[in-house]
Amino acid sequence: MCGIIGCSLHDNSKYNILSQLAKLEYRGYDSCGVTDLINNQFFTFKSTNRISDLKNKKTTLSNLSIAHTRWATHGNVSTKNAHPILSNNGNYSIVHNGIIENYDKLKEVYLSAFRFITETDTEVIVNLFEYFCKTNDEIDSLYILSKLLKGSYAFIILDKKSDNMYFMKNKSPLIIGKGQDIIIASDILAFDKNVSSYYRLNDFEYGYIKNNKVFLYHNNKQIKPSFISFIYSNYNNQLNGYNHYMEKEIYETKDLLKKQIDFKFDSDIINLINSSKRIILIASGTSYHAGLLGSYFFNHLSNIESSAYIACEFEYFDYYNSDDLFIVISQSGETADLIKIVNILKNHNHNILSITNSIINTISTLSSKNINIDAGIEIAVASTKTYTLSSFILYKLACIKNNLYDKRSVINCIAELDNIYNSTDIYKDLAKSIYKNKNLFFLGSGYDNLICKEASLKLKEISYIHSESMSCGELKHGSISLITKDFPVIYFISDNGYKNTLNSIEELKSRHAKVYIISTNNVEIESDIKVSSTNDLLSFIPFSIVLQFISYYTALLLNNDIDKPRNLAKSVTVL
Ligand code: F6R
Repeated sequence: MCGIIGCSLHDNSKYNILSQLAKLEYRGYDSCGVTDLINNQFFTFKSTNRISDLKNKKTTLSNLSIAHTRWATHGNVSTKNAHPILSNNGNYSIVHNGIIENYDKLKEVYLSAFRFITETDTEVIVNLFEYFCKTNDEIDSLYILSKLLKGSYAFIILDKKSDNMYFMKNKSPLIIGKGQDIIIASDILAFDKNVSSYYRLNDFEYGYIKNNKVFLYHNNKQIKPSFISFIYSNYNNQLNGYNHYMEKEIYETKDLLKKQIDFKFDSDIINLINSSKRIILIASGTSYHAGLLGSYFFNHLSNIESSAYIACEFEYFDYYNSDDLFIVISQSGETADLIKIVNILKNHNHNILSITNSIINTISTLSSKNINIDAGIEIAVASTKTYTLSSFILYKLACIKNNLYDKRSVINCIAELDNIYNSTDIYKDLAKSIYKNKNLFFLGSGYDNLICKEASLKLKEISYIHSESMSCGELKHGSISLITKDFPVIYFISDNGYKNTLNSIEELKSRHAKVYIISTNNVEIESDIKVSSTNDLLSFIPFSIVLQFISYYTALLLNNDIDKPRNLAKSVTVL
């Protein structure tokens, strides 16, 4: 979702902020913009296209700039609605990530005399700032805003007259990186090699950057930010011969899994698991699907009662106990639905163990303990390697209690992945058979049904083909009415014992559905795709790669924008 960045250089050297903004591209966006401040004048460039297009338009360079990638919430995708956005008097220019829930009300109460050019909630913030600055200094005005604005936000405002760069945040991430220069951004990935320390702002902190110094406030009092040292690592964002990041990331999975084989959990985490009577997993999207597998593992391997919940639904369920362990899973660590729940749990002093793909993020900061899956940046919007890695970490956690981790079978299972990576022709063939369809079912029973959920989501995300995942036995209770001749149905089968699956295949074949079977070699059934798995519960490893490849090749045939599917954002920072 939206990414914001502000750069304040220590001298008058000029800088192209757009190289840093491009590091936020992976979050997903539909338009972008930048403002350079030069000799008390704003120079603004916008595009409803990619940052590369913005680079072509931008004709200035400055040592003071703000920039933005927008994922539209209020107002359509247009140059007008793209940020930065000016206040009425033209003194202030803002970039904003998040949603102001009470913007309408605030507009009505304070800004009736203001003229609005955009349809955004952001324009309300910058005009409110102008409004309060008429009778207060800027810091007091930010304090007033911290009390008035409801919702999630991180914003940066550039002041044309003073050269100050103001900022404030609540719920949405904002991090200040300091070195020779100062970069303030939604994500540390936007930092450059000059950043040697960082400070993650807490909610309702605000302040300004002037002459390369940071002034920080909370509740009208100046506070001292404690910067933590930072070692810049230029993540490998090259395609290295792959056609898409999604493809590259699927291939990276094997080595990342290998790295985790011997990973040891710290003793606090082991104690947390061993002492848990019940484990509740919470996440969104693909991470929720990893959570479903996790709860299956805890129930089957450790006899710890466990269930998984979708983050945005969790608050509607209240049957949990004070001694439950909560495991929250989030690739980005910034998913607003999950942050909301983590805050509620934290306020009730629950034990929260988070599984994230970095250590510097909101969810890991809020949790009692964190496991970093350390999968490297995932640039494709559709999660691939992080699904497999998070599921693997959950598998290992579930093995702790009864000491069931069988390293040998994990090593063998991972070694077998080469066969999958070398069999792309069969996924391409399957993709050719399905890509012209409008609808599709993924069917499985038990464990396999959990795999189907991820297969269906992955296909929808990047191919835009409607698909549903369903339990084999449940199909006959209604949805079978959709089955007509040649309706495509893909089965995942990891276990001979799933009688419902075998019955369902017969039922659908007799209705002339087009049945495709993906099974492990332990299952005695003729299959379109066979994968090796050394242990039924590890089948998610080969299955995940196969389901990702099927989606990938289907989307490729459809000529879709695979790494940046329409409407989707990598980091969903709004509720
Ligand atoms: C699917 C996908 C999304 C995310 C979901 C949660 O490929 O990427 O469904 O899994 O938005 O994101 P995180 O894991 O960052 O909390």
